[in-house]
Amino acid sequence: MNFLSLIEAKRDGQTLDPAQIKELIGEYTAGKILDYQMAAFLMAVYFRGLTREETRALMLAMRDSGDVLSFPDDPRPVVDKHSTGGVGDKVSLPLAPLLACLGFRVPMISGRGLGITGGTLDKLDSIPGFNSRPSTERIIEIVQNVGCVICGQTARMVPADKGLYALRDVTATVPSIPLIVASILSKKLAEGLSALVLDVKFGVAAFMQTQEKARELAQTLVALGNEGGVNTRAVLTNMQIPLGRAAGNWLEVKESVQCLEGRGPADLRELVLACASHLLVQTGKTRTLEAARRLAEDCLASGSPRQKWDEMLAAQGADLAACNRKLALDHTAPVVIELNAPASGFVSRCDARVLGEAVRDLGGGRFTKEADINYDVGVDALVKPAEAIKAGGLLARIHAADRAQADAACARLKNAFGISAHPPVADPLIAEIIAQHG
Ligand code: URA
Repeated sequence: MNFLSLIEAKRDGQTLDPAQIKELIGEYTAGKILDYQMAAFLMAVYFRGLTREETRALMLAMRDSGDVLSFPDDPRPVVDKHSTGGVGDKVSLPLAPLLACLGFRVPMISGRGLGITGGTLDKLDSIPGFNSRPSTERIIEIVQNVGCVICGQTARMVPADKGLYALRDVTATVPSIPLIVASILSKKLAEGLSALVLDVKFGVAAFMQTQEKARELAQTLVALGNEGGVNTRAVLTNMQIPLGRAAGNWLEVKESVQCLEGRGPADLRELVLACASHLLVQTGKTRTLEAARRLAEDCLASGSPRQKWDEMLAAQGADLAACNRKLALDHTAPVVIELNAPASGFVSRCDARVLGEAVRDLGGGRFTKEADINYDVGVDALVKPAEAIKAGGLLARIHAADRAQADAACARLKNAFGISAHPPVADPLIAEIIAQHG
């Protein structure tokens, strides 16, 4: 193919036809297009954008660049949730077993964290023995037998995205809505889903900083997900403040288990139940969100999702006895110190970005995709906006590898919190729901 003429066409703002896009993704995946040419094409897309039809063609071509999961006929719908990522976002961990207990099959293909955004796989890798990289065949087997799996993409799934994403990362072309949409949905469509709920976050610690930008992304994702044959909905959620009271890989596993045991923070439980409720309605298992919510609440209260969690862990090689021993510990990091409130009042701010940066710099996150991380460090016992606090009371605990790092994080976290005389008006966690024609 003459790729140069396609670069020129996009550079000049012309529209490509679906067959051209299909061919270029095929050639790129086969290693026949050089990275410097593809980088030029991506930059042309960044500035010129893609039409809806071009974006759809890109998404489908990327999906078809590798294996697409295919599940045996079964009355249980195949569903998933995807989050655009944030600080303390551990929803996937309790949600997958809850969905399995509600009669779904859940092939939750997840990623690692980068920068301040935590990654589901990093959290799970803090569990002794856990295998986050099963083969395609084993993914299908676990989903069929257990109902849910949470794991990484195999090398055979969506190889086009692997190459393109790495290239976008080093050419400043990540923040392009058509490229983001094609990247996210190609991977979700390759899971063979019938329904998908998207958690599109906005705020200081989100990919999209404003609600307007998040809405624009969510609307495109919802439209194209549905066009790709997956019943897709999105919730727009607030990422000004962290989700839950813990950020850091193992600390978030602990909080997820608390959620499965009917304890833990209210906002985490709220979002888990909301995602489950939408999927129940999307798949026609219940007619209304209210009925779905009751079903999801009863299921969580029954304790079966907690057992399902153990079943999923065991199927993925975890040492359950070691995991449960670890869960019983107050902390696993060598040093834990407290951040105390300088005055009495109400917490008015708990800045998710400052918190995320502090956790990353404690070693809980990474600057490059290859970097090692420390699973034990992070922050917990966070006090959240509108909660009352007394001078000297606990605002957060810092879990660190050594005292110097703990002190540095503590100094930084002082800037994450604000205290006011009156309780602030709390922003809703779920700001909007974007449904197919909404
Ligand atoms: N997440 C993805 O998987 N792809 C993007 O392009 C951005 C976020």
